Amino acid sequence: MAVDFKSVGIIGTGVIGSSWAAFYSSIGMEVKMYDLDDQCRRKGLERAINFIEGINTGGLISDREREDALSKLKTTKTIEEAAKNVDIIQESVAENYHVKHAVFKIVDSESEPETIILSSSSGLLMTEIQKAAHRPERCLIAHPFNPPHLVPLVELVPGEKTDGKILLRVKEFFEAVGKTPVILKKEVPGHIANRLSAALWREAVDIVLKGVADVEEVDKALRAGPGLRWALMGPHLTYHLGGGEGGIKHFIDHLGPAFETWLNDMAVWTKFPLESREILSEGVEKEIEGKSQSELAEWRDQKLIEIIKLLYK
Ligand SMILES: NC(=O)c1ccc[n+]([C@@H]2O[C@H](COP(=O)([O-])OP(=O)(O)OC[C@H]3O[C@@H](n4cnc5c(N)ncnc54)[C@H](O)[C@@H]3O)[C@@H](O)[C@H]2O)c1
Repeated sequence: MAVDFKSVGIIGTGVIGSSWAAFYSSIGMEVKMYDLDDQCRRKGLERAINFIEGINTGGLISDREREDALSKLKTTKTIEEAAKNVDIIQESVAENYHVKHAVFKIVDSESEPETIILSSSSGLLMTEIQKAAHRPERCLIAHPFNPPHLVPLVELVPGEKTDGKILLRVKEFFEAVGKTPVILKKEVPGHIANRLSAALWREAVDIVLKGVADVEEVDKALRAGPGLRWALMGPHLTYHLGGGEGGIKHFIDHLGPAFETWLNDMAVWTKFPLESREILSEGVEKEIEGKSQSELAEWRDQKLIEIIKLLYK
C-alpha cells in the first residue's frame, strides 16, 4: 500500500459510519467507533459485524480476514478517545453545518496534528465545515456511496484551505485499498454523483406524476436498461459508443436535437411537488410486494457483491 493508514476513528455510527467501520476493519485497520447516542453506538457495532459477515459469506474477504476484521472493531465512550492516536478520522454525523462544526471543533483539538480528518458529507461544502478547525489543511470530504463497505466510489472534495498534498495522500490510500476515488476540482453542493442522481430522480418522479408510467415501470426501465450499462461506463462514454465510428461528435450532431426536444419537455422544479410523497410511497409499496427493508437490503448487497467481484476484483 502506498500510504499506510493503520487506524481510524469513526464519529457517528449510523447507516454510513457503521458501513465505513466494516470497510476499514476489513482492510486491516484498527477501528474506534463513537456515537453520541449509546443505542446508536451499540446498533452501529452490530451492523458493522453483520456487514463483515456478509462480505465474508459473499467471498470478498477470507475467513482469516473476517476474524481479523472483527477483532479490529472497538467502540469508545467518548469522542476524545475515538479521535486520539488514529491516522484518520471519518466523520459520519448528521448532514448539517451546525453538527459538523461541533464535531470538527472537538476532533481537530483532540487529535494529533498529523491525523487526517475526513467528512462523509453527501453535499455540504468543506470550505464551510473546516472553519471549525484550527488545522483546516488536513480536512476534506471523502463522500462514499451507500453502502461504503461495498460500493467503490469515494468522492474527494477539498475545501479552500485543504492541503493539496494531503488530498493526494488520501487519493493514493483509497486507490491502494481498492476504492475508486474521484477528485472534484471545485466544490458544489451535492458533489458529482448525488447531483446526477438528483437530476435523474426529479425526472423519474415527474414521469410518475404526469401519469406516463407507474413507479415500478420507471424503476424497471432504469435498472434493465441504462443502469446495466452505467455499471460499465458513464454517460459520455456510453454516447461515444452510441455515435458509432463518428463517436460522441456524431452522436451530438445526430441525436443532440432530439435530446433538446426532450429537455424542453422535462421537469425543472426544485421543490418536491406536494403530492409526490404519497404517490411515490404507494408505488413503492406495490413494487416491493410486502418485502421488508432488511430483506431488500440483503438482496441488494448480495447482488452488489457479485457485480463488484465481476468488475472490481
Ligand atoms: N445515508 C446515505 O445514503 C449516505 C450516503 C453517503 C453519505 N452520507 C452522509 O453520511 C453522514 C451520516 O449519514 P447517515 O445516513 O449515516 O446518518 P444516520 O442518521 O444514520 O447516522 C448519523 C449518526 O450520527 C450520530 N450523531 C449525531 N450527532 C453526533 C455527534 N455530535 N457526535 C457523534 N455522533 C453524532 C447519530 O446519533 C447517528 O447515529 C451524513 O453527512 C450523510 O450526508 C449518507
